[in-house]
Amino acid sequence: MSKQRLTIALQKSGRLSKESIKLLSACGVKFNMHEARLMVHSTSHPIDLLRVRDDDIPGLVMDGVVDLGLVGENVLEEECLERQMRQQANEYRSLRRLDFGHCRLSIALPTEQQFNSIEDLAGLKIATTYPRLLERYLQEQGVNAKSVMLTGSVEVAPRAGLADAVCDLVSTGATLEANGLREQQVIFRSQVQLIQRADELSAAKQQMMDTLLARIDGVQLAKE
Ligand code: PRP
Ligand code: ZN
Ligand code: MG
Repeated sequence: MSKQRLTIALQKSGRLSKESIKLLSACGVKFNMHEARLMVHSTSHPIDLLRVRDDDIPGLVMDGVVDLGLVGENVLEEECLERQMRQQANEYRSLRRLDFGHCRLSIALPTEQQFNSIEDLAGLKIATTYPRLLERYLQEQGVNAKSVMLTGSVEVAPRAGLADAVCDLVSTGATLEANGLREQQVIFRSQVQLIQRADELSAAKQQMMDTLLARIDGVQLAKE
């Protein structure tokens, strides 16, 4: 990583990538984006973008590999819980909550299945990409269900016979509906956060950081 240039990790492709780039553009930071290029240098500011899987962003910030990250709180909280369990460093600075990437992590069951209360989940297998968040919720509720980790296509798990239910992100609800699932219980609400690594930045980076943050605040204000 550069000593002079601020490195920002953001989602390569997915729900958050367009809005993340849009925010930086609105701040006047210019790039020549190429789909295949994972490291992008700004042509207007000492800023580099590292385009990665969203799930990798909290770890990259916590390990000090990048200076900043734009990431959903769902992924951030899951990584914190995972690192706590492994007694690994999980420090970072939370700079701003941003007004995009709103979604919820919810438990959903096949539409035809009865659901009256959370106790109905007892003994079920629940497929999810967020096992720590799910397990924390089940423990809080005192429900004995089993989580099954799937890194993708969670919504097909019940029909494929891999699980009885899912715990996945819901934004519009279209994915659940298309897969014959009904949202029953929200367990976590999320939006995007701008996070910074825990240790001090160099003077040059801090200066760029202050400018960027002031512009982000301006953009957010203008949206209200
Ligand atoms: C989430 C989730 C669903 C989709 C739901 O995936 O896993 O696939 O969004 O959105 P909807 O309610 O609007 O249909 P995400 O885009 O976060 O990507 P990822 O699972 O690849 O990280
Ligand atoms: Zn992801
Ligand atoms: Mg998905």
